[in-house]
Amino acid sequence: MENDILKVLYSQEDIHDITKRLAKQIKHDYAGKNPLVICILKGAIMFMTDLVREVDDYLEIDFMDVSSYGNETESSGEVKILKDLDTSVANRDVLIVEDIVDTGRTLHYLTQIFKTRNANSVRICTLMDKPERRVAPVHADYVGTTVPNEFVVGYGLDFAERYRNLPYIGVLKPEVYAH
Ligand code: PRP
Ligand code: MN
Ligand code: MG
Repeated sequence: MENDILKVLYSQEDIHDITKRLAKQIKHDYAGKNPLVICILKGAIMFMTDLVREVDDYLEIDFMDVSSYGNETESSGEVKILKDLDTSVANRDVLIVEDIVDTGRTLHYLTQIFKTRNANSVRICTLMDKPERRVAPVHADYVGTTVPNEFVVGYGLDFAERYRNLPYIGVLKPEVYAH
């Protein structure tokens, strides 16, 4: 698996530093609010679980699974709910946790949905932001790092469902996805 990686973009240590920094801001901003932290499956699983462990305050977690990619490197433009929340977001302070904002379609859609469902507030925390690729308007309130327009995998991010279990974030060798 490691053989498919061109270079490491963010090491485990880099990710931990980023996570600690964001968790500190979140703890400060949400003091006394008991936010509902929503993990967007599957990509955000590693980041969300690491992030909440660094926030030393009351919060709740829930999961939502949406899809916009299929097995391609390009977004289809369509967002589908594969698994909805168990918790009502009405009057809650919602913090959406994502691994990456790419075209912005997923988060644009989710932000609208949670507002329609009468969330008290909706904010976004993303480990990575790829602003070059933006199609839908999305503003992330907490951004770990801005990444160049390369195909990144690992730490939850997949290519054709593989590589999510890499403990770091790397760039895939082009020949792996070029067929
Ligand atoms: C990826 C990624 C984000 C989304 C970003 O998820 O994890 O959720 O795409 O793309 P966008 O900004 O263009 O909408 P994907 O739909 O591949 O599902 P996954 O998390 O299960 O891999
Ligand atoms: Mn995702
Ligand atoms: Mg994916």
